[in-house]
Amino acid sequence: MQTLRRALVIGAAGNIGAPLVRHLRASGYAVLEADIQPGWRPDYLMADINQPLDLLPAFDWRPDVVFLAAASVGRMTCEQAASLSVATNLSGMNNVLQLCKRAGAMCVYFSSSEVYGPACDPMDEAVALPQPNNRYGLTKWLGEQMVEYEVRTGKLRAVTVRPCMIYDETEDLGDHRSAMIRFASNLARGKSIDVHRGSARGWLHVSDAVRAIEAAGRVRDYTIVNVGHPDIVPMAELAHMMRAELGADPSLIHTTSLPGQMTLVKRPTLDRMRNLLGIEPLVSLREGVRRVCAHQRQVLTAEARSNGHTRPLVLRAESGTLETPIEPILTMPAANLAG
Ligand SMILES: NC(=O)c1ccc[n+]([C@@H]2O[C@H](COP(=O)([O-])OP(=O)(O)OC[C@H]3O[C@@H](n4cnc5c(N)ncnc54)[C@H](O)[C@@H]3O)[C@@H](O)[C@H]2O)c1
Repeated sequence: MQTLRRALVIGAAGNIGAPLVRHLRASGYAVLEADIQPGWRPDYLMADINQPLDLLPAFDWRPDVVFLAAASVGRMTCEQAASLSVATNLSGMNNVLQLCKRAGAMCVYFSSSEVYGPACDPMDEAVALPQPNNRYGLTKWLGEQMVEYEVRTGKLRAVTVRPCMIYDETEDLGDHRSAMIRFASNLARGKSIDVHRGSARGWLHVSDAVRAIEAAGRVRDYTIVNVGHPDIVPMAELAHMMRAELGADPSLIHTTSLPGQMTLVKRPTLDRMRNLLGIEPLVSLREGVRRVCAHQRQVLTAEARSNGHTRPLVLRAESGTLETPIEPILTMPAANLAG
């Protein structure tokens, strides 16, 4: 009988982790999931990477490959919770690297395009010297150095992926998430959105991202691979595509200056993704926008039904919500997920 390749996904409950688990299982892997989120089901282990003893059963299972997606994620959240981000993204990830070494497992380390900082255009993994301008990017860049050190001196087998602007129509909502999902959920609800003047990005659908990440687990020698989409579009264009798709009011789109600690243009080189991983994105931006907007419409319809309305509510008021507003104790500036 053929033995299945064993994959341990740490951060399995996350926005990339969950579809990655589905993709690996569909591709014939035996998969064990781990995440700090509480859960009790077969093939799932609740564990905090900062408490490595709880990960021992997962490594006793002898995974061939470990996908290390668990992290404190996001530009603003890592600024705010500095200690937690440094602990998780460095000490916690180091725990996983040491366990990978002991178990002889290959590690796919999830870094981020945020490592590059604002001055790398294009973001070329072969030549660019990263200079991150926020703590999230800094912890990921230092994490990459730790992976590289263990490969060089500790004989760890590893690869680093730098995902850039991954999105999924079903991903979590919130002001800490990426512009793609915030634009759609806000415009669908008649709320305004801020488009940063001159900013541009390429957007990779998660179904393409997980194919690239799985392929990274089969790379033999240590390397760093950008995982992104080649079509770099101005954020203003993305906002207008979404507005048109949702039939939202053009006055909801506001143009503002780029806040500090962000990167204006993200243009990853994708030669390694193409040539080493053999991956070309299949989902175009237009198709992705259609899916994200369709999902937001469904969510609104479901919300309206549960509130006893037969048609979805779309509030035109600037700060309108579908429920009674609760005054926040602390207000935070709108965030963009550091991708
Ligand atoms: N989504 C993107 O566009 C993007 C872009 C660049 C990099 N990344 C990287 O990819 C990875 C996955 O991103 P995502 O968008 O799925 O993020 P996410 O926040 O949705 O998922 C992270 C998961 O890690 C878990 N986690 C957090 N702390 C943990 C801990 N101490 N122990 C165990 N589990 C813990 C969380 O519960 C969550 O399920 C992250 O490392 C992120 O930095 C994502």
